[in-house]
Formats: sequence, structure tokens, C-alpha cells
Amino acid sequence: MPRPAAGKQRKSAKILFVCVGLLGVALIADLLWASSTSSSSRSYKSAYDWPRPKASSDSFPVPVSSNHSAKVVTDKDKKDGVHGRLLSKTFADLPAPDLKWEKMAESPVPRLDGAAIQIHDQLFVFAGYGTIDLVHSHVDIYNFTSNKWGGRFDMPKEMAHSHLGMVTDGRYIYIVTGQYGPQCRGPTAHTFILDTKTKTWKNMPPLPLPRYAPATQLWRGRLHVMGGSKEDRYTPAVDHWSLAVKDGKVLDSEWKTELPIPRGGPHRACIVVDDRMYIVGGQEGDFMAKPNSPIFKCSRRNEVVYSDVYMLDDEMTWRVLPPMPKPDSHIEFAWAVVNNSIVIAGGTTDKHPETKKMILNYEIFRFQLDELKWSVIGKLPFRVKTTLVGFWDGWFYFTSGQRDRGPDDPTPKKVIGEMWRTKLSL
Ligand SMILES: *[C@@H]1O[C@H](CO)[C@@H](O)[C@H](O)[C@H]1NC(C)=O
Ligand SMILES: *[C@@H]1O[C@H](CO)[C@@H](O)[C@H](O)[C@H]1NC(C)=O
Ligand SMILES: *[C@@H]1O[C@H](CO)[C@@H](O)[C@H](O)[C@H]1NC(C)=O
Repeated sequence: MPRPAAGKQRKSAKILFVCVGLLGVALIADLLWASSTSSSSRSYKSAYDWPRPKASSDSFPVPVSSNHSAKVVTDKDKKDGVHGRLLSKTFADLPAPDLKWEKMAESPVPRLDGAAIQIHDQLFVFAGYGTIDLVHSHVDIYNFTSNKWGGRFDMPKEMAHSHLGMVTDGRYIYIVTGQYGPQCRGPTAHTFILDTKTKTWKNMPPLPLPRYAPATQLWRGRLHVMGGSKEDRYTPAVDHWSLAVKDGKVLDSEWKTELPIPRGGPHRACIVVDDRMYIVGGQEGDFMAKPNSPIFKCSRRNEVVYSDVYMLDDEMTWRVLPPMPKPDSHIEFAWAVVNNSIVIAGGTTDKHPETKKMILNYEIFRFQLDELKWSVIGKLPFRVKTTLVGFWDGWFYFTSGQRDRGPDDPTPKKVIGEMWRTKLSL
């Protein structure tokens, strides 16, 4: 009897829908990002310690894509099972070869959600949170030849402090939008051009609308800005705008509306290689300011992290390419192009399905552009998100971001300024 059966299915689907809705509401819990005042341990106490949503019990759906090396459940995990947790904390880690890491000079300041652009042997490192209540408004430079930091200079007062879009043509750095101020404050539409030779700044026409962490690249003589989160910091945007630029000059009077991206959201890697533009990973949703909070206090919302890869070429239609080995977000400046491969370090993946805690990645992913094939080529010394990457003279470098609590606990803790490198030949 097809009809009653269909009716029953609809009903259970409805109940499931209500449960998921309740879960969503229950997930809206405070992020206890109390910033430490001690300068020796500038860490976020991110005790993502919300009440366990009752509605979910053990039936919270595990994302289909999350068969990441189903880990053996240990005795310790079984004890945790008393409180309903059955899945290992580290269940999302993929098997990855160990690499030999060398610790380099530490950045003058720790930063989270900063930005970085490599030009020749220099890594320009911008902005970022020092603590949740303090944001940086300057640039530090790391020299890959001398392996030293130096050359600090200020950013314009109107420039955003985190979640920026940024790209270079080899001399000029084009900087768009981002979050202005600490905690979960609003975004600005301001845009800038930095001449890295003279260290001087210029304005560009403001973006049509402000965005958080949009995918940003130079492609075929135009600066492309795509997706990100909308003004509320949470709602994924799919808008795509471009502006003609050349040698630090803007050739258009206004931004042009382009083909929207297939899926919106912030924190993706966006890369142009061989005249093709790639958009990799990212998420939908993010922390938002708590309503009526005078300090725009951050409060966690539901997020969906994804592994999608899209590509734009001659045909001017977005093509779907093979997905990453696991969902990965917070990687906008965590990539380098090495020998016709995109190499991506760390990031965040889907939250733990039972504890709902945020989970960081330690994998180094490789995407071979000739074969369109993904692999995991190594392991970072710890899991880290929004880390800033460079590649020079056979060395793969990363600095900054927020790292995990230790090998057995992939949830985020300390904001770092450490710089590490490993030999990489592909
Ligand atoms: C899940 O992961 C395990 C361990 O890596 C593997 O043996 C198994 O084939 C995977 N299953 C699927 C459906 O991919
Ligand atoms: C980086 O350091 C090397 C070695 O000290 C130096 O020769 C080079 O000029 C530096 N690069 C820049 C851009 O300052
Ligand atoms: C790039 O690939 C070529 C050919 O496979 C290899 O000889 C070379 O060492 C590689 N370079 C790097 C930097 O990995």
C-alpha cells in the first residue's frame, strides 16, 4: 500500500526535521573565548563547552562523507561512552606519513585568522586576532632566505583585521573587505592596494557589499571576489564580482557582477594555476555576534564544512572536480603551488558528531592538477587552522593559526606565532 507508507515516511521525515531544528537551536551556545591576559600564554580558552543537546541522543546523523579511518574505540573512549560518547576524539584523522619538521624563528605576534602573501623570498603576514579581544593592524615580514622576521609596518586604519580577501600579482597586493575589529564584529567593504616595493597603500572602489573571508584571486587581468559570509557573518553568499586591475592600478570604475559560485561560504582556498581558477573546501555558517552584545561577543552557530572543489576555465561554467579526502575549511592562506600540485596544510573538518566540538586537521593534502587526484602526503607537527603557508627553495613553511590541545585532542586551543618548515619535493 504505497499511500499510507508514503504518508508514514513523510511523518517521520517531519519528526526528523523538527529534531534537527531543535538540535540547531540547542547548538547555539556561547563560545567561551576568554582571552588570557598573560603574555606568555596568549591562548583562547575555547572551552566549546555547551550542554549536550538532548534531542540528538545517539541518533545524530554522521555525515556520509566521514569514513575517515574508522578508529578502534579504546577503553578510555568506552568510559566516555558512559556519557554517551562512543566515537574517538581523533576519529577524523586520516593516516598520513610523518615528516621531519624544523622549528624556525617565531613571529613577533601570534595570530588567528590573519592573512599571508608570498612574494619571492618574502612572506607578508597581515592582521589577525592576537586574542579574541585584540586584533593586529600591522604587517610582519618573514624572509625565507635569511629565515628572519622583520620590516614591520602599519596597515591603513580603515582596513579589516581578519577574514580578509587578498592576492598578489608579484609586486602589488590587492586586499578586499573582511571583519573590522575584535570578537565577532561586522565586516567592512573597504579595499586597498599595497605596493610592496614602496610600502605605500592606495584605495580601490569598495566591494558592492561587505563580506567575511571571500575567495579572492587574480584571473585574466581581473580581481575576482567570490562567496564568503554575508554581513551577519553566518549566511553564505554566492555573489561573484570582478574588477579590472593592472600593475597596482584599477582600470574599471565599478565592480562587475559575474557568474555566481555553485556553493557559498567563507574560509576556502582559491588558487589560479595555468589560467584555471580553483575553489577548494570551505564551510557554510560561522560564529556570529550575540544579539545585543555591546562587544559583539562571539557565539557559536551550526556550521557545515565541505570538501567540494570547483574550477572555472575557458568555458566560463563552474566545473565540479574530485572532492578533498575529507571536509576542510579555514585554509584561505594555507596553500602553496608546488610543481603543478596544490598543497594545503591543516584546517578544520566537520564537528565531532557526538560532542559537537570543533575538530582541527593535521593532514597536508596534495591535489595533482594533471591527474585531478587528491592524496595525503604528510602530517603537520600538530593540528592547526587558518595557518599561513609559503614554499621556497624546496622548503614548505607554515606559521600562525590556532592549534589543537595535543595529539589526542583535536579541539582548538592556543593561538600561535610559531614558524615551522619541512623539505618538500613533489
Ligand atoms: C572506511 O575506512 C576503512 C579504514 O580506512 C576502510 O578499510 C574501509 O574500506 C572504508 N569504507 C568505506 C565505505 O569507504
Ligand atoms: C632576505 O635575506 C637575504 C639574506 O640575508 C637578503 O640578501 C635579501 O635581500 C633579503 N630579502 C629582502 C627582500 O630583503
Ligand atoms: C618537480 O617535478 C620534477 C619532475 O618530476 C622533479 O624533477 C623536481 O624535483 C620537482 N620539483 C620539486 C620542487 O618538487
